[in-house]
Amino acid sequence: MSPTLESFVTVAPESHFPIQNIPFGVFSTAQNETPRVGTAIGDLILDLHVIAQAGLLDGIEGLNNPASVFGQSTLNDFMALGRPTWRATRAAIQKILSKDNAQLRDNQELLSKALVKQADARMHLPAKIGDYTDFYCSREHATNVGIMFRGKDNALQPNWLHIPVGYHGRASSIVVSGTDLHRPAGQRITPQNKTEPFFAPSAKLDYELEVGWFVGTGNPLGKRIEVADASEHIFGMVLVNDWSARDIQAWEYVPLGPFLGKNFGTTISPWIVTLDALEEFRVSGPSQASPEPLAYLKENKDTAYNIDLEVQIKPSNSSTYERVTLSNLKYMYWSVTQQLAHHTVNGCNMQPGDMCATGTISGPDNESFGSLLELSWNGTKKISFKDGNERTFLEDGDEVNMTGYAKSSAGYIIGFGDCRGKVLPCLYQ
Ligand SMILES: *[C@@H]1O[C@H](CO)[C@@H](O)[C@H](O)[C@H]1NC(C)=O
Ligand SMILES: *[C@@H]1O[C@H](CO)[C@@H](O)[C@H](O)[C@H]1NC(C)=O
Ligand SMILES: *[C@@H]1O[C@H](CO)[C@@H](O)[C@H](O)[C@H]1NC(C)=O
Ligand SMILES: *[C@@H]1O[C@H](CO)[C@@H](O)[C@H](O)[C@H]1NC(C)=O
Ligand SMILES: *[C@@H]1O[C@H](CO)[C@@H](O)[C@H](O)[C@H]1NC(C)=O
Repeated sequence: MSPTLESFVTVAPESHFPIQNIPFGVFSTAQNETPRVGTAIGDLILDLHVIAQAGLLDGIEGLNNPASVFGQSTLNDFMALGRPTWRATRAAIQKILSKDNAQLRDNQELLSKALVKQADARMHLPAKIGDYTDFYCSREHATNVGIMFRGKDNALQPNWLHIPVGYHGRASSIVVSGTDLHRPAGQRITPQNKTEPFFAPSAKLDYELEVGWFVGTGNPLGKRIEVADASEHIFGMVLVNDWSARDIQAWEYVPLGPFLGKNFGTTISPWIVTLDALEEFRVSGPSQASPEPLAYLKENKDTAYNIDLEVQIKPSNSSTYERVTLSNLKYMYWSVTQQLAHHTVNGCNMQPGDMCATGTISGPDNESFGSLLELSWNGTKKISFKDGNERTFLEDGDEVNMTGYAKSSAGYIIGFGDCRGKVLPCLYQ
């Protein structure tokens, strides 16, 4: 695909959605409340159900009934078709949107039905997420948290450099960007009283900056996905805010790991950006020379991605967002393909629409720390905002906005849009 390809739809230079992106999402409008599949182009959405019904997506190999696949309220059916079909569909959409193609460009009647302003649309979860797994794959994040919990000398657990550590999360509480969440309440202890818990709203509500990836084609129970084939099974990526209640987590996590401190809500960005759109941003990741991973995790190509990741907070009494984190997906130690190979190495079956997240992506500088736990060093350092606000953890009314983008050498940006949510007061005391 040509990096100079242009669309007849006007796309601002700073837009996350040029014709080179073509992400997939599910939307509805006030005029048509039925959720259906679309792609983002500039500030608009191209309704893939409408153009499929008009026959514009006929003849794509593997996509036998485009009007049915894109008339669904989830992407699961499309995800199940496999990467060659995702790739051919993306190429066909690029052709339809390109400046030199009159087919849609000059069909006013179809255009008026097929293009919708993003500002007028409501985004939905892009898939029915059967299962959700959250990894813990940033060495810097694991080290920072390890230092806080166990001290500098054994910050990383002995398994960490051998295994992409993860836990099974909760799919039911994954919500789409723009959904506000109530502060959770739960059992906590205090440093003064370490054995007798009390019940109260969390006082240490945090965000975690993560990237999520969707399984497209899965694997049958008992049969693993090889690391070299893993990218053929991954449909694409989203941004993830893994909201975390640090005080609930600290008391409950022994010995089985995260539970109610995590499963009260996880926010994702609505547009799934395909691996094909991200291909040009592949770079080599952190060295895995010492120790070398076991054979089933060994990769011999660049599988990290150079994608800038930001977190901005709008304090409750403020009208502007201020950036608190600037990180990058390339810092992540275990790649998404290693995560998938590891997840299935015991024969665990993945299904279309399953979602995995990377874990908090922190980098080497304190500016790149992907959580308030790290930025405030467990509440011991205040984060100052230009307008006079200070935070250690989130307060009621605070809004968190995450974004991710990569700049091509050809000038355009491939981005994820935003992953946003507001903290509402706790409903329980
Ligand atoms: C964080 O601080 C709390 C006190 O507010 C303490 O109980 C807890 O052990 C600390 N956690 C870590 C990881 O340092
Ligand atoms: C710890 O807190 C519980 C619940 O508030 C209280 O009943 C108990 O007396 C406290 N224990 C100590 C040693 O302070
Ligand atoms: C980050 O590190 C710099 C240099 O060590 C320091 O001046 C700054 O206060 C730190 N910022 C935070 C938020 O910890
Ligand atoms: C918001 O609250 C902070 C802290 O109390 C204060 O410094 C700041 O001036 C307030 N901002 C506005 C716009 O009221
Ligand atoms: C979230 O951040 C992105 C990137 O800075 C920005 O384009 C977007 O407008 C922000 N969202 C809101 C609601 O401010």
